[in-house]
Amino acid sequence: MEQQRSSIHGQWSGRLAFILAATGSAVGLGNIWKFPYITGENGGGAFVLVYLLCIALVGLPIMMAEVMLGRRGRQSPINTMMSLAKEEGAHRFWKALGWMGVLAGFLILSYYSVIAGWALSYVSLSLEGAFVSASAEDIGVLFSNLIADPQRLILWHSLFMLMTMVVVARGVRGGLEVAVRYLMPGLGLLLLVMLGYAISSGYFMQGLAFLFDADFSKINSTSILVAMGHAFFTLSLGMGAIMVYGSYLPKGISIAKTSVLVALADTLVALLAGLVIFPLVFANGLEPGAGPGLIFQTLPIAFGQMSGGLFFGSLFFVLLVFAAWSSAISLIEPAVAYLVENRSMKRLTAALICGVATWLVGLATVFSFNIWSDVTLFDKTIFDLLDFVTSNIMLPLGGLMIAIFAVWVMKKESSRQELGLGSVGFSLWYWVTRFVTPVAVLIVFLTSIGLF
Ligand code: TRP
Repeated sequence: MEQQRSSIHGQWSGRLAFILAATGSAVGLGNIWKFPYITGENGGGAFVLVYLLCIALVGLPIMMAEVMLGRRGRQSPINTMMSLAKEEGAHRFWKALGWMGVLAGFLILSYYSVIAGWALSYVSLSLEGAFVSASAEDIGVLFSNLIADPQRLILWHSLFMLMTMVVVARGVRGGLEVAVRYLMPGLGLLLLVMLGYAISSGYFMQGLAFLFDADFSKINSTSILVAMGHAFFTLSLGMGAIMVYGSYLPKGISIAKTSVLVALADTLVALLAGLVIFPLVFANGLEPGAGPGLIFQTLPIAFGQMSGGLFFGSLFFVLLVFAAWSSAISLIEPAVAYLVENRSMKRLTAALICGVATWLVGLATVFSFNIWSDVTLFDKTIFDLLDFVTSNIMLPLGGLMIAIFAVWVMKKESSRQELGLGSVGFSLWYWVTRFVTPVAVLIVFLTSIGLF
């Protein structure tokens, strides 16, 4: 292997490793937990359509831009932005993009870990046989008991943070690259098994109609903002996670092709999750708008009734934990990489500091489901607020800055070299990223704060 070490943190072994890592980052709780419940809360079809548009016109172009900046900068997002700004003769202020990303990563991981903790606790519930022949009501009680109990939530949140920090401390390539190679296909396969079950539930057409019948009277400017925010969230964009993964990408690999593959895989998993969950929601007379508990209140009903449900149920939640795990490491990698670069820390120390800080912030989310459930601001609990501010404000803002830097600040020649697209493909990316993407993000922003 004659690949030179261009980043002090090491480099992916090749194209496949990068695709797996980026897909591992993209496919997570966002696809299986969040996408179904926000689709339910926002009325279904029309929301899904807006989301798909956002993936194509905003997500994909920004993903290419973000990977590109990373590979050119070869450092943590903060230092990457600093050196790219210098290289292009731009203001040092661009470094702020890196800092905002680090903050967004902390905040997202803080609640992400709590939800991943739910998935962990469902592995244990499933193994205990808690779902066997349980009614929709019993399953509902299991869920409300879990979130009402801060101690149990803290236990699982701690376990998940620990798992994340172990991998981050070992370096991205050491652990996850191997695990993700087998587990992601496993998750896909199991979703297909579940799809079979959903089809046999007799309510598949209702589920399908809910997901794809676009009734635009059901959405408003806030749902459009949520759809766009989710496009950023689900593709891991706008905070430097994909940038830092790009900085470990060897030269000569096509950024455009790999980005398309990652975005496709991510979208497929989300739609598949929707196709599994909504038939079950309707078959059991549940509310599509039930909120963050949606998959935890629907899937176990199916597992409790199907043959082999104990096995499939436990396996499903194990795989969900893995999907969350491979996403969580990317949320904290920018901060860890920065500490290693600028404070010459060992990865272990850096991971420990970041882990403890995130764990502490995560307690606010834990309590927002129980003892602090009536602490609200703008009618949102702490958890809702964290989610809203990060996904719908910080990520789009970060993404907007990435797009602007890539096509307005960076020389056209630099991005042409880096992206490795043909001339038509490059022009398409360039013009979409220059005009369509920023304008779309701005309009959605301004509309949602009522200025448009
Ligand atoms: N994309 C992941 C998911 O859908 C979550 C995630 C990982 C993320 N890294 C990110 C979200 C960076 C925003 C930014 O579950």
